[in-house]
Amino acid sequence: MTPAPSREPPTTDPVEIRIASLDELEACRALEEEAFDFAPTESIPGWVRHMTDSHGGITLTAHVAGQLVGFSYALPAFEDTGPYLFSLGLVVKRGHRSSGIGRSLKLRQRHEAVARGYRVMRWTIGSLNSHSFHLALTVLGARAIAMHPTPLDALQSRVYMDEVLCEWDLVGRPARVARPEPRRDLLHSVEIPWDHRAMASADPDLAAQWRQGVAAAMRELFARGMYADEVILDRRRRRAWLAFSTGADRQSA
Ligand SMILES: CC(C)(COP(=O)(O)OP(=O)(O)OC[C@H]1O[C@@H](n2cnc3c(N)ncnc32)[C@H](O)[C@@H]1OP(=O)(O)O)[C@@H](O)C(=O)NCCC(=O)NCCS
Repeated sequence: MTPAPSREPPTTDPVEIRIASLDELEACRALEEEAFDFAPTESIPGWVRHMTDSHGGITLTAHVAGQLVGFSYALPAFEDTGPYLFSLGLVVKRGHRSSGIGRSLKLRQRHEAVARGYRVMRWTIGSLNSHSFHLALTVLGARAIAMHPTPLDALQSRVYMDEVLCEWDLVGRPARVARPEPRRDLLHSVEIPWDHRAMASADPDLAAQWRQGVAAAMRELFARGMYADEVILDRRRRRAWLAFSTGADRQSA
């Protein structure tokens, strides 16, 4: 009997994270197209990333044994309360995932951002993307704070585009907050699929139903002033829940 192939063999070679060169920025397109099932016309050209990097953006690439295996792109943004860094694309190549490369990219991006005077980073995550939520909320200490549909969402129903806005306080809450169990501040949890891409390719209608249900639940919780700050995982049974609470509950917990 042929043994089942390992889905994500761990990366054992050291990972180098660096500020991306123009050539590397162009090379990021292939990773982006593969990760999001984009056509070549849908990925962001290297020269655009280069221009935004020249004006306050920060794109970092990850390399293992000389091979480009990931990147994190972010551009400068602004709102009433001041400037922030808006991250628009975090990708780690298949075969290198779940070995800490995504975390290393974001931690280095935080370091670079704080050195340039940013205090906040934001990005959006597809409502069913438990892997990405776990990294953002549990590992890094960001919070999911609002629904944020994108125009691409309507244009490209074949792609699960980002729709939940996350905010990372770069100078406040430390990454990977250790919490006593059980959580006393947990008000609600919303289950999301363990592997939304596998679900979407096996049963697109089921994935669409999940997405609608999860988005409706999250919209209601955000409207009630809550945010999600952790993904509770049952790794053995491959199940995941977004944990919602409020600042007031956290302080009294
Ligand atoms: C999301 C992504 C960038 C994460 O990169 P990564 O290098 O695998 O991330 P890390 O290894 O640093 O951290 C991943 C964490 O998620 C956990 N994880 C793995 N599979 C998971 C799943 N199905 N659900 C929840 N968490 C999961 C890992 O165990 C790890 O947590 P741990 O440190 O507590 O063990 C990568 O999976 C990817 O490129 N995905 C496709 C593109 C994408 O969705 N990008 C995000 C857009 S917002």
